[in-house]
Amino acid sequence: MNRSNPGLLVSFEGTEGSGKSTLIKGIHAHFKQRGYRVLATREPGGCPLGETLRTLVLSSSMHPKTELFLYEAARSEHFHQVILPALSTPTLVLCDRFTDSTLAYQSYARGLPWEEVNTLNNLASSVQPDLVVFLDIDPEKGLKRARNPNRFEAEGVEFQAQVRMGYLKARTENPERWFTLDDQHFRTLIPTLVQELWRRFGKALECMKI
Ligand code: TMP
Repeated sequence: MNRSNPGLLVSFEGTEGSGKSTLIKGIHAHFKQRGYRVLATREPGGCPLGETLRTLVLSSSMHPKTELFLYEAARSEHFHQVILPALSTPTLVLCDRFTDSTLAYQSYARGLPWEEVNTLNNLASSVQPDLVVFLDIDPEKGLKRARNPNRFEAEGVEFQAQVRMGYLKARTENPERWFTLDDQHFRTLIPTLVQELWRRFGKALECMKI
C-alpha cells in the first residue's frame, strides 16, 4: 500500500453496542505492552472542543443537517489537533468511529445525500483510514448490550438496521480497506485483528516500536 504518513489510521465502526470500545482497549493494551507507539481516540470527541461538541450533539434532537455539521465540526477539530499530528509520526492511531459513521448515520439512516456527506467528510479530514474495522453484529442484540444509552439508541432497532445498511453500502465503495468481524470471531476478536494488522501493515508497524 502506498501511504504518505509514517503513522497508520485504523477506524472502528459498528452499530450501537457492537463492542468497539472494548476491542479498542484490548488492541491498545496489546501494542502498548509490547512497546509500540499507539494512540486510542474517538469521534465525536478526542480533544477538548470535540468533547464539548459531543455533549452538544448527543444531548438533544436537532435538524439532521445541524447534526451533520456538528459531527463534521467535531471531526475537523479532532483531525487537525490530534489525528494528523499523530500520523506524522510512526504511531498506530485507533479511532472509535470516523467518516463512515457519518455516511451510515447522517446519510443512509437520516437520508442526507451520500455524495454531499462524502464531500464534507473529505473537507473535515484529508486522510482516509488505512483500515476500517467493522464490527457487524445483529442490531437488536447490540441495542440490548449497549451500556450508555444515547438518543440514537432510543430511536430503536429499525434505525440501527438502517445504520447497518449504510455501513454495508460504504464497504462496497472500498472493500479492500475494510475488515469485518462478526459473531464468528466473538471469542477471538483481539488475536484475529492483531494478526490482520501485521498481515497488512507489518513493515509500518515495525517502525512504531519505541
Ligand atoms: P459512540 O456512542 O459510539 O461513542 O458514538 C456516539 C454516537 O454518535 C453514536 O450514536 C453514533 C453517532 N455518530 C453519528 O451519528 N455520526 C458520526 O459521524 C459519528 C462520529 C457518530
